[in-house]
Amino acid sequence: MHIDVITLFPELVSAVSEYGVVGRALQRQTVSLGLINPRDYSDLPHDRVDDRPYGGGPGMVMQYAPLHAAIEDARASSPGKQATKVVYLSPQGERLDQTAIREFGRSAHLVLLCGRYEGIDERLVQADVDEEWSLGDYVLSGGELAAMVVIDAIVRTLPGVLGDEQSAWQDSFEQGLLDYPHYTRPESIQGLDVPPVLISGDHAEIERWRLKQALGRTYLRRPDLIEKRQLSEQEQQLLEEFLAEQSSSI
Ligand SMILES: C[S@@+](CC[C@H](N)C(=O)[O-])C[C@H]1O[C@@H](n2cnc3c(N)ncnc32)[C@H](O)[C@@H]1O
Repeated sequence: MHIDVITLFPELVSAVSEYGVVGRALQRQTVSLGLINPRDYSDLPHDRVDDRPYGGGPGMVMQYAPLHAAIEDARASSPGKQATKVVYLSPQGERLDQTAIREFGRSAHLVLLCGRYEGIDERLVQADVDEEWSLGDYVLSGGELAAMVVIDAIVRTLPGVLGDEQSAWQDSFEQGLLDYPHYTRPESIQGLDVPPVLISGDHAEIERWRLKQALGRTYLRRPDLIEKRQLSEQEQQLLEEFLAEQSSSI
């Protein structure tokens, strides 16, 4: 997979490639990252890429021409001339979730477009952008942090990136549930003990306990996810068990 990021701050985005899971995936060439600065496509003095908004008002707007040229260049360099998906990170886009991230991971070539200032000329969105996605209902100063979030989330879903293939599938949202709670040594901290089942060595019981916790947590914290998910008979029973345990511990 190849990801191009169109950004006025390539140095900021390149930080994502220097650490951890994404850094290793780039070193192993499971994924490659291109950083494209629209200023390189400007023919204005001082490589300007913004101008005042038509109709007046505060702030500046990123212009169509340099962004369009940058996207065209990215398309032309698509590895194996694979279809390119152009994604604009924008507070006005659809809210990002794990399903969208998995879908991005299926693209051979993804272009992430980062806005700045008041945003980008709407005609670029109409002409060149395939999808608009948002991190959430708040406004960032630029799309770079959103692009870094997207890159990190995609890369950890790619085959071979995480040491244990199961690891990503057990994460929150993959099965429509939040993850179960995790514990590590020591067994006791300030009177708080590791649940005994986890040190019982009974793998079937551990699996059962983990699913019960995942169901219970999701029910308490994200009931919307439980509503969306068709619970099996066993899951329904585990959830009831979880709730009964909760009320008896109060
Ligand atoms: C200051 S914002 C522009 C906000 C725009 N005037 C609006 O209110 O919709 C500048 C850039 O930051 C990025 N951005 C801001 N908030 C975002 C969010 N929640 N998710 C993804 N990108 C965001 C977008 O690329 C946007 O073009």
